Amino acid sequence: MEQYIIKGGKRLEGEVVINGAKNAALGIIAAALMTDEQVTIENIPDVLDINVLLDALTEIGAIVERKDRHTVKIVGRIQTTKVDNESMRKMRGSYYLIGALLGKCNNAQVPLPGGCNIGSRPIEQHIKGFKALGADVDISFGMVNASAEKLKGGHIFFDIVSVGATINVMLAAALAEGQTIIENCAKEPHIVDVANFLNSMGANIKGAGTDVIRIKGVQKLHGSTYSIIPDQIEAGTFMLAAAATGGNVTIKNVIPKHLEAITAKLVEIGVEVTEEDDAVRVNAHKRLGNTQIKTLVYPGFPTDMQPQMTTSLATCEGTSIITESIFENRFKYVDELTKMGANIKVEGNTAIINGVEKLTGATVCAPDLRAGAALVIAGMVAEGFTVVEHVEYIERGYESFEKKLQGIGAIIDKFDESDNRGIQKFRLKCG
Ligand code: EPU
Repeated sequence: MEQYIIKGGKRLEGEVVINGAKNAALGIIAAALMTDEQVTIENIPDVLDINVLLDALTEIGAIVERKDRHTVKIVGRIQTTKVDNESMRKMRGSYYLIGALLGKCNNAQVPLPGGCNIGSRPIEQHIKGFKALGADVDISFGMVNASAEKLKGGHIFFDIVSVGATINVMLAAALAEGQTIIENCAKEPHIVDVANFLNSMGANIKGAGTDVIRIKGVQKLHGSTYSIIPDQIEAGTFMLAAAATGGNVTIKNVIPKHLEAITAKLVEIGVEVTEEDDAVRVNAHKRLGNTQIKTLVYPGFPTDMQPQMTTSLATCEGTSIITESIFENRFKYVDELTKMGANIKVEGNTAIINGVEKLTGATVCAPDLRAGAALVIAGMVAEGFTVVEHVEYIERGYESFEKKLQGIGAIIDKFDESDNRGIQKFRLKCG
């Protein structure tokens, strides 16, 4: 098992470049299967979840060729619609293979998705959408089995706003016969990105980014070359790392518009944020203030930034309140922050954060992807050494996390937990 060791107390300074959006890439890679022609996808992040999905594509017969670290060519001439890859059960994005395979082949057998344990994560809205397109869907032996004689356009009104269900039904409907209207859609930037990619393959999708998406099914999709948008959550994580450490960091290759909810909160607590065309500069030069936040669907404050924000507020002045309205189990990391001296009380879906003067280093365990990143931020703020265990969660969604942080001055390194000599050397070197 690998762990990060961090010596805290260093102000982050310099420039960091953001990779492509993981959650867009998951949908886009699945969509690439929907044509037999070659698709080239650029700006793919080199993270665990993406690599697991690419392996699953290879296992069902697609040709996947990595041109370089961030460019992949996919030829989706698959041999089976049954995805039997064990790793798929552990990740969330596997569910996009249902929509993609159902759309292309009228059949899909895909393991039930797993993903970070941040609350109950049902998929009944996805199933409702597939059924509205004429598919039969059942779940047995841990697999989702979906099939149809022929998919036909339908009218779907989602009961709840779901990123996954919106993308999944959009995928299937792209090749269904006739028109599909999806209402009460999610509006996240990665939904627009997946729609743009499908359109670049010849699909006819309008309205992505609003709450009504209209799709005119086409008979066939063709090859395309497409570059994925920057990862708003990776960017936001570095913004908060800069703010929490009192740093001055320019975060490059971002779309500032996608970061507005985060920027607004940072400005409110006293951080200076400067927007450029494709960069934001975050400069924090005084003790920050408190705020109240409720996580919401886009364009609201993203649930995927909640742990990083809570952590950053732990050392701000006064009392802040964060309400988590998307996932019910997303405060598990708070016990770990408490070990570091934070004063945070969780009541139901609300965290009451009483700002403390300082955090102190401790050994903590990453419970999931974003909470893991948040604990790294805590380690960079804290006095002394912090060990963050279970780095594998963080690597599901952050590329070269420790290297990028080193690049802006953090004292952090990654070690196998059995590497006593390496760990000892690092601790001695940092003093
Ligand atoms: N929900 C249902 N039924 C459904 C679908 C969703 O009740 O059929 C509920 C969920 O339980 C949750 C809410 O609706 O309470 C929103 O879930 P959504 O479907 O939007 O989330 P998701 O598709 O499972 C994606 C991201 C998450 C991100 C959420 C919210 C991927 C692979 N995952 O999950 O990303 O938190 O949207 O923006 O795109 C992450 O990257 O760390 C991560 C967890």
